[in-house]
Amino acid sequence: MKIVSAKDYNDMSRKAANIISAQVIMKPGCVLGLATGGTPVGTYKQLIDWYNKGDIDFSEVTTINLDEYRGLKRDHEQSYWYFMHDNFFNYVNVPEENIHVPDGANPDSDEACREYEEIIRKAGGIDLQLLGIGTDGHIGFNEPGEAFELRTHCVDLTESTIKSNTRFFGSEGEVPKQAYTMGIKSIMQARKVLMVVNGENKADIVKAALFGPVTPEVPASILQMHPDFTIVGDEAAFSKIKDLI
Ligand code: F6R
Repeated sequence: MKIVSAKDYNDMSRKAANIISAQVIMKPGCVLGLATGGTPVGTYKQLIDWYNKGDIDFSEVTTINLDEYRGLKRDHEQSYWYFMHDNFFNYVNVPEENIHVPDGANPDSDEACREYEEIIRKAGGIDLQLLGIGTDGHIGFNEPGEAFELRTHCVDLTESTIKSNTRFFGSEGEVPKQAYTMGIKSIMQARKVLMVVNGENKADIVKAALFGPVTPEVPASILQMHPDFTIVGDEAAFSKIKDLI
């Protein structure tokens, strides 16, 4: 486990983008596992900036996103497909056919999840998986208590997730109740894992995930067992582990 301290959000974003950039330079045809959420947005911005300066080329890269709401079409403004295009893909040269997000519009969850695992397998596995972390330790949509050995599967969103997502949709009734997510096993099979984390509200969970017991109650704790796991965090997120690193 490598713990990389950053001053603030911008510094965290730049350091994470540097690691991704190194991956793409060393292996131009690499497979990047990507995440949505607020934390990686700055990392994507930095990569876009370097792309515009001609410092990085994504023309041979394949991307495989972590998760998607079940029931949302790609063009829905709250879909993760939409989010990724809005924050990254529309501004760089990843070929459209190399972009993969679980198919939220497929109501057959077994088929959607099986096909996604097949995409990962055919791509040759994920070289670098980018992750955020939820305040309860979730990674992807793998909530506390989720079995470590699952691959891509369909999850029921918790009541609190549905409630907190209501702000992005018109009403609670419009919030999807399920999602397709890579499982912990799919994530653990990535050759490298890079987590980004910022803000004081993540400080407790960072300590539990990195230095607490490895338990399904803290899904991210399994990353302690990953052979090539790097976490980049700002001062606030690392405030409770200062004496341990
Ligand atoms: C994103 C994802 C989630 C987020 C997590 C943290 O694809 O699967 O696990 O990484 O909820 O979200 P933010 O970065 O918004 O705090």
